[in-house]
Amino acid sequence: MPGLDGKIALITGAGGMRGVGRATVMKLAGEGSDIALSDVRREASDLPPAEVREEWGGIMTVSEEVQALGRTALPIYCDLSDPEQIEGMVEETIETFGRIDILVNNARAIIGKDKVPVTDLDKEVWDHFLSINTTAVFLASKFVARHMIAAGNGGRIINIASNAGKQASANGAAYSASKFAVIGLTQAVAMDLAPHNITVNAVCPGPINTDRMSYWERDQAAEKGITQEEFRSQIVENSSQNTPLGRIAESQDVANMVSFLAGEDSSFITGQAYNVNGGQLFH
Ligand SMILES: NC(=O)c1ccc[n+]([C@@H]2O[C@H](COP(=O)([O-])OP(=O)(O)OC[C@H]3O[C@@H](n4cnc5c(N)ncnc54)[C@H](O)[C@@H]3O)[C@@H](O)[C@H]2O)c1
Repeated sequence: MPGLDGKIALITGAGGMRGVGRATVMKLAGEGSDIALSDVRREASDLPPAEVREEWGGIMTVSEEVQALGRTALPIYCDLSDPEQIEGMVEETIETFGRIDILVNNARAIIGKDKVPVTDLDKEVWDHFLSINTTAVFLASKFVARHMIAAGNGGRIINIASNAGKQASANGAAYSASKFAVIGLTQAVAMDLAPHNITVNAVCPGPINTDRMSYWERDQAAEKGITQEEFRSQIVENSSQNTPLGRIAESQDVANMVSFLAGEDSSFITGQAYNVNGGQLFH
């Protein structure tokens, strides 16, 4: 019997064609979970070029993939900058499935506008990063944990942080601060929920071979006169060369760690932040 048979998982940021969210949805569904999967509705200008070209259906398409595995999927549009929508996402999941066993906080603010020195960083951009990457993790955890506690069956909360949550780099103030905060939040919430047998852990990936949208990558590509996808390939190639294991992470590598943290074999692990980075960083 698969390891997560009959479990109910709620996963944010799940609509990207090559994102960690979709890989995680498919991994947990493959292990027997039914899935509520959410994402924000995005304009074409905010989508990776491949998703526009292939008319990718986002969470609707990922839901069909889950159903093809014989599991139930509930797609929910939710803008995580709005606390009411976060609460609505949790309530809709409870109304459909009756409970939530696993919460994966995976979504993040669309990157790129943050990639400037602190002296040029707009407060609006800072606020948006903290809102999606940190505050939404707090709120989703709060609303879901209340239901987990009431159900009395324990649970799992898994937050996707980053290398950048342990070691900052230049032009990364908003992103790093938001991800350092996720690790602190993970530890504090783990302590609050330990008496209820709810474990709370973070995953810290290094660079991943996703085709995420980045305004910075789009602008850099335009400046160099190449396509956004060509520029992205150069980044992937550089990251591979700078990684001891000789390749960049795939979304599947991150999904595999989430699956471990969602399952029974991790029942004595809480408040931790696991690196998935091919040896790039050790603490
Ligand atoms: N891609 C990488 O190289 C990398 C590296 C380290 C950590 N991570 C982390 O892994 C996770 C997944 O990364 P990814 O590359 O698949 O992500 P991504 O950049 O593709 O974004 C994930 C999802 O978040 C959604 N999102 C954006 N704004 C939102 C909003 N306002 N409300 C709701 N959802 C919103 C997007 O629509 C997208 O589907 C993120 O938490 C990210 O920080 C990624």
